[in-house]
Amino acid sequence: MANHEGVNNRVAVYPGSFDPVTLGHLDIIQRAAKQYETLIVAVLNNTSKNPMFTIEERKELLEEVTRDIPNVKIDSFRDLLVRFMKSRQAGTIVRGIRSVSDFEYELQMASTNHLLDDEIETIFMMTNPKFSYLSSSIVKEIARFNGDVSELVPPVVQERLAAKGKA
Ligand code: PNS
Repeated sequence: MANHEGVNNRVAVYPGSFDPVTLGHLDIIQRAAKQYETLIVAVLNNTSKNPMFTIEERKELLEEVTRDIPNVKIDSFRDLLVRFMKSRQAGTIVRGIRSVSDFEYELQMASTNHLLDDEIETIFMMTNPKFSYLSSSIVKEIARFNGDVSELVPPVVQERLAAKGKA
């Protein structure tokens, strides 16, 4: 339902770097998609980081792995997250929390976003314990040394990581 600012709490945004998407991200996407009418997975287009995958590649991989979830949309942003939210009339930010160590950073981010725009709510989902140690950085580290990432990322991501290694 849209509130007076025009944001809709049934439209959620799951923001992140997704460099690349992991099975931990996908678990959050699948679960969050069941809780909201629309889930927008929004990739931060951040030129200051040094990503392994371009913004187009990251979006393409997300499109492929979420193809069978009809209410998931893939998008990107380079603005403040709360401004992007408003541009999509989205009222809810979804973030996954893997561990206590994630909490401080997430609390700081949620509090900052609340300060910037108190119409936007942040909702946390606990990561599936199976993936509590998993991050995109760990995946890239293993892939750089030709290690097996088959338990950590969807098959299409595994293929793309292998192709990067050969490039
Ligand atoms: O997957 P990540 O890298 O932990 O995601 C971080 C992200 C993209 C959610 C965060 O950096 C972000 O929202 N950046 C956009 C800039 C912004 O709005 N900053 C204010 C909140 S700290």
